Amino acid sequence: MCGIVAYIGHREAYPVILKGLKRLEYRGYDSAGVALLNDGLKVFKKKGMVADLEESLIGENLHAHSGIGHTRWATHGEPSDRNAHPHQSSNGKLAMIHNGIIENYTQLKNELQKKGYQFKSDTDTEVLLNFIEDIQKNNQCGLEEAVRIALKRVVGAYVIVLIDQDHPDTLIAARKGSPLVIGVGKGEHFLASDASPIIEYTKEVVYVNDYELAILKPDELILKNLGNEKITPFIQKLDLELAAIEKGGYDHFMLKEIFEQPDTIFDCLRGRLDIHKGTITMAGVQNHMEKLMHANRIIIVACGTSWHAGLIAEYVFEELCRVPVEVEYASEFRYRNPVIRQGDVIIAISQSGETADTIVAIEKAREQGAFIFGVVNVVGSSIARISDAGAYTHAGPEIGVASTKAFTAQLAVLTMIALKIAKEKKTISEERYLQLLNEMHEIPEKLREILPLNEQIRALAEKHKDAKDALYLGRGYNFPVALEGALKLKEISYIHAEGYAAAEMKHGPIALVDEQLPVVFVATRDSYHEKIISNIQEIKARKGKIIAVISEGDEVIPMMAPDIMRVPNADELVAPMLSVIPLQLFAYHIGVAKGYNVDKPRNLAKSVTVE
Ligand code: AGP
Ligand code: GLU
Repeated sequence: MCGIVAYIGHREAYPVILKGLKRLEYRGYDSAGVALLNDGLKVFKKKGMVADLEESLIGENLHAHSGIGHTRWATHGEPSDRNAHPHQSSNGKLAMIHNGIIENYTQLKNELQKKGYQFKSDTDTEVLLNFIEDIQKNNQCGLEEAVRIALKRVVGAYVIVLIDQDHPDTLIAARKGSPLVIGVGKGEHFLASDASPIIEYTKEVVYVNDYELAILKPDELILKNLGNEKITPFIQKLDLELAAIEKGGYDHFMLKEIFEQPDTIFDCLRGRLDIHKGTITMAGVQNHMEKLMHANRIIIVACGTSWHAGLIAEYVFEELCRVPVEVEYASEFRYRNPVIRQGDVIIAISQSGETADTIVAIEKAREQGAFIFGVVNVVGSSIARISDAGAYTHAGPEIGVASTKAFTAQLAVLTMIALKIAKEKKTISEERYLQLLNEMHEIPEKLREILPLNEQIRALAEKHKDAKDALYLGRGYNFPVALEGALKLKEISYIHAEGYAAAEMKHGPIALVDEQLPVVFVATRDSYHEKIISNIQEIKARKGKIIAVISEGDEVIPMMAPDIMRVPNADELVAPMLSVIPLQLFAYHIGVAKGYNVDKPRNLAKSVTVE
């Protein structure tokens, strides 16, 4: 979590950093701060959003050519002015921003307290900073050397960036486990958690790897490992346009991203799926086909919405490829000593490619010999780089904290992978294969047909916005869609919602049903249709308020449910890409109707880079 921006060069640093922080605010938004080097070190920080910081700085002298900035997602210490970053070292000469957690901070803090250090904040960050200052003092060494020594003792994950009053022409940064990108300009360098603060200045970037240290001057970039050996920076061209990270006329990023889905799925299929030739081209799959088609087992690891995509993929892979699939929360998988054997394939799904739980799960599986296949949205992200093979979802930057377009793109990619493997394994008939290719091909157009429901769903949201709880039910491929619908509602509207397999409802949750409870059924036409109609009857008999996502032409469910949202007919295997859209819109409109900040819901952050 947390957004980091730093600048050194010929421009005014503050405006560059401020704009960058606004772009990165989706990563954390409980407090923000900047440190500027301008005739001495000046540190400004404020609880709240970046705009609060900006307002508090009106009238200040902010002139500087180097500086660091941070927008925080608190892990250690409540959101407050004093816990906000940057932190300043005891002697006041160093300032540091940090993304991550220093796990052994208590031990380091005890050692420093014994030496007389006092702490102004509750953060692990200030401990690391004073530890660095202390090493500098004891070893009589420069900052770079002190950082290197300190990081060898640190347990945990971090990106840190330091600025030193005595060396105003240098910034020092290091990374382990959290993301860091360097922008290389002419006579200037940028540092950020992702490329969005950098793109309007330069398209040349260097992704810093774990255990690397970057020493930045206006016209020099030195990259080293913790053993003090130089590494040649690998400069890459950014393939990202400014328009992709702006709202483009929509009220919120979330709405824009929901509406982008016909295009994102089109982009995701483009160049891959060819219905005329009957082929799917995916180099990441093709080049590793032996491993994938002979997998003993596929284990999908992911979190949140990506985990829901994994649950749908489980059904798809088992159906099409006849391979056993397990889907695990990455955070559980990592710590529960899982059994992994040669021949197991891990599919790691992640929008950001930076989710700490997923990264450590991958590392754990790799140690035990598994082959890692990444399904990732952010190009060049950590998971993309540490996977043995992979496929990008190509949904473009997703900025709204609630994942929408990344989910449907994940489904599209996972289904294509399954189809490609099934074809090679001959576990699918030619006819079914071609039929599903065609179904996939039609998804963007069908998505376009769903979006005009927006106004109808807004009205539905208005009607149900005061609900205290909600139940989401689905069966088969639509069961994980129910989970996803409930997650969206929780995140955006703070209404308690639960997703359940519709038949499981009668084993407990049905006790919750009364005339106040909205029960959302994901009931498009599929092989479970008759069964789910019975489940709807069961809720109706108990006077629950039924809302249903149904297929066009369904005349039965509307007789039972007053509130319906119709989506085009599709094969059940691809239907989740359609049936989830009304649920995304429903959550969005309830959040808006309740006056909440849907792009930045409370307590959340877009990219969860702490375990
Ligand atoms: C989705 O709306 C959530 N904000 C969250 O559950 C998210 O899907 C999860 O943190 C995983 O993120 P990733 O896909 O970037 O790994
Ligand atoms: N652990 C640090 C803190 O709580 C950094 C959190 C972050 O990544 O924003 O301040």
